[in-house]
Amino acid sequence: MTPTDFLRSRRSVPSRLLGDPGPSTDQLHELLQQGLRVPDHGRLAPWRYVLIDRERGAGLGERLAQRLLETDLQATEAALDKERGRFVRAPLTVTVVCTPTVGHKVPLCEQQLSAGCVAMMLLLSAEAAGFGAQWLTGWPAYDREVMNWLGLGDEESIVGFIYLGTPQGAGPEQARAALADKLSYYAG
Ligand SMILES: Cc1cc2nc3c(=O)[nH]c(=O)nc-3n(C[C@H](O)[C@H](O)[C@H](O)COP(=O)(O)O)c2cc1C
Repeated sequence: MTPTDFLRSRRSVPSRLLGDPGPSTDQLHELLQQGLRVPDHGRLAPWRYVLIDRERGAGLGERLAQRLLETDLQATEAALDKERGRFVRAPLTVTVVCTPTVGHKVPLCEQQLSAGCVAMMLLLSAEAAGFGAQWLTGWPAYDREVMNWLGLGDEESIVGFIYLGTPQGAGPEQARAALADKLSYYAG
């Protein structure tokens, strides 16, 4: 497949379809390194990773279920089960964290965009290596308590959870925007 064919056809694999094997340690380090090759205004490197393997993900899921109950006493058993399983779907989940330099002349949003590029680059790296990946957030990405569990500092934020594994199927293709609907020209 040419790089152009790859970019034309790339797509995420839903996390429920990401099975074993996950990347080996060497493969993972390669993917994570490729993920850091992103545009970065001011060379601030405003990003880092926190890995969640499936075993630790099971424990984290229990804590998520407890947390959900604290915040929503009406939470159904199905909702609690979903939390328990949130980080065991795929062999590995990579948390992409934005670590901004606060007060820097490079605006915060540019630092967050660079961190978003890390997430996107990691998707591409994983797909190029034959793995499947999906970028998810959900309430845990925005919950301060969950951020504390993952070791985030006050200024840090979660850009997304990148689920990684071997595709067990393709999942439905998403409708893609037509360029004609998204393109205009500056008319002077
Ligand atoms: C920042 C961000 C957060 C996302 N969070 C979720 C999510 O929590 N749940 C979900 O179903 N899709 C979420 N998505 C969408 C999926 O990652 C993705 O759009 C979908 O799997 C199709 O991906 P593809 O266009 O790469 O094929 C999110 C996307 C982004 C960019």
